[in-house]
Amino acid sequence: MSDPAAWPIDAIRRQFPALVRQKDGEPVVFLDGPAGSQVPKSVADAVTHYLLTTNANHGAAHATSVESDAVLDQAHAALAAFVGTSDPDEISFGANMTTITLGVSRALARHWMPGDEIILSRLDHDANVTPWVLAAEDAGVLVHHIPLRPEDWTLDLDAYHNLLSEKTRLVAVGYASNATGTVNPVREMVAAARDAGALTYIDAVHYAPHGRINVADLDCDFLACSAYKFFGPHVGILYGRRSLLEQVRPYKLRPSTDQIPGKWMTGTQNHEGIAGAAAAVRYLAALDCDGEYAHVGGDYLSIEGLAGQLDRVFARSEEHEERLAERFLQELSSLSGVRIHGITDGDRLSQRVPTFSLTLDNVSPAAAAAYLADRGVYSWAGNHYALPFTLAAGLEPEGTLRLGALHYNTLQEIDRAIACLAEFLEQL
Ligand SMILES: Cc1ncc(COP(=O)(O)O)c(C=O)c1O
Repeated sequence: MSDPAAWPIDAIRRQFPALVRQKDGEPVVFLDGPAGSQVPKSVADAVTHYLLTTNANHGAAHATSVESDAVLDQAHAALAAFVGTSDPDEISFGANMTTITLGVSRALARHWMPGDEIILSRLDHDANVTPWVLAAEDAGVLVHHIPLRPEDWTLDLDAYHNLLSEKTRLVAVGYASNATGTVNPVREMVAAARDAGALTYIDAVHYAPHGRINVADLDCDFLACSAYKFFGPHVGILYGRRSLLEQVRPYKLRPSTDQIPGKWMTGTQNHEGIAGAAAAVRYLAALDCDGEYAHVGGDYLSIEGLAGQLDRVFARSEEHEERLAERFLQELSSLSGVRIHGITDGDRLSQRVPTFSLTLDNVSPAAAAAYLADRGVYSWAGNHYALPFTLAAGLEPEGTLRLGALHYNTLQEIDRAIACLAEFLEQL
């Protein structure tokens, strides 16, 4: 690993106004990133700038509408760079990943027949499960669920390969678990699905702030993520392979366009949010030059330019996050009465992100989260909507205590959070 100083943590933190928040004179520790990240000022500025200077509906002749459409075009390009395609028309926006997935599942299910099968996973957020289950019910299609290996709650890949057949129409799987932090071997899973003739739909919501997405390399058919998890506002993003976006008929209104990407974006979009999502991508890319964010308007880098910057930035942020994960594992192993659900082997850090699901002996995750919150350490308790996992692991109804770090978190913050947890356990 390279020099820790290579990750410009102080310059990064200065860009996030929320991170100066205090509780009882101590800085707050934000380990609630898996539920939503904080945003840099440049993202808030882009939202404000859009609303104050360019606010208009899509497709008119007057200046604000023309300028607004230019902002939206730039956003398609920025998000294309973010997911690793060179085609901005393969990017569409929506309210959030859940709503997008409900729409895509209904559209794809028009092509399913009784006797067809689909494969889902028990490590997924319910947003990548129930939409497909409901669509399968309507189409009379059989649903398989990839089981988990109880030793580390990773996907049972042998079972996955056995489930695949010529009847499989779709494999929907998460890139990384928002409960255990496990990164699934998505590339290998997509290749196997493709060999079987199935389409693939990847939920990259949890993975997006942690690792570089490259749909061209993954060769997946669809991939969805949400900007509020990677330093942007509340907007959902869908990548779809051009040929599929063109062929498949979404549920849409008659007057709206039949061209991609517009045909996949129902209703008037959250333009200011989309401007903010593009600003989140530019914030990330600008970390390549350790630069404070330069501009809100003006000329932007090409898709290729942004993509190159993102490649380099994620290579460095992954190293920083590995150090955070390592520290979590070291410190948590010194606590008795705490169980980590997920990968705990320090030699397998490349298979996880720094998101940890814990249970504590004789005390609920909610009680621990409340104690931490009272001391300015923000976490989360419950099933995190990763219901298939909490059911499979016998963790319902209380779920887990989840601590999740992002690239703006520090080793000192991990130390403080775990010290606080130790204090909670001692006073029980
Ligand atoms: C892994 C994962 N998938 C999907 C979702 C749902 O995303 P959205 O809130 O954009 O619908 C979440 C939200 O927490 C998530 O963590």
